[in-house]
Amino acid sequence: MSKTANVAVIFYSRDGSTETLAKAIAEGAQSEGAEVRLLRAREIVGPDVMAHAPGWAENAERMNGLYAAPTAADVEWADAVIWGSPTRFASVSSELRAFIDSLGGLWASGKTVGKVGGAFTSTATPHGGNEATILSMYTTMAHFGMVIVPPGFGEPAAFGAGTPYGASSVAGQGPNPPTEGDLAVARYQGKRAAQVAAKLKA
Ligand SMILES: Cc1cc2nc3c(=O)[nH]c(=O)nc-3n(C[C@H](O)[C@H](O)[C@H](O)COP(=O)(O)O)c2cc1C
Repeated sequence: MSKTANVAVIFYSRDGSTETLAKAIAEGAQSEGAEVRLLRAREIVGPDVMAHAPGWAENAERMNGLYAAPTAADVEWADAVIWGSPTRFASVSSELRAFIDSLGGLWASGKTVGKVGGAFTSTATPHGGNEATILSMYTTMAHFGMVIVPPGFGEPAAFGAGTPYGASSVAGQGPNPPTEGDLAVARYQGKRAAQVAAKLKA
């Protein structure tokens, strides 16, 4: 059996901030030799609704060309599963939630138990619910029997960026991209998840 971990970074992003954090998390996991699948949950509304938000359809087309849609098989394959979502009214986006809610069969078969879990988000405002969003994903991970591995303050950049619960960024109305500090926390979160998953696997 391989001593390095399989890591699934499963995210939804509309404007690209959560996507950028997801890529940094993937880089961190890869720096530990992990095999990484970077996967984007798909829209659950049609073009008529997407047309109300400028750039949504174009961004979705671009990202869907880069990242496959996640499946239950990806979660089963992974030793570590890290979920990322934009904050929506202090909670997870319905697009990522729809994917999570499709995992009932995997949960019922006990196949989620013992996997490493992590979560990250992006908000528009500094106190707009980033921690609440991340923590809400951890309650689901508890139901899944996952071993939650938060970044804490293990990376010095965490004293000025991210949250101890998971990586985050503040996009403002720009959207402004994640800062170097945000990305350092994200890379650390991915690295740490891969390290712990590899140890559990061994
Ligand atoms: C329906 C909706 C609800 C939102 N709710 C919040 C919120 O509660 N707090 C906040 O700070 N930002 C909120 N935002 C802004 C997004 O979280 C923010 O733009 C985020 O950076 C988007 O991530 P993305 O670039 O990955 O799509 C909301 C955006 C939308 C469309």
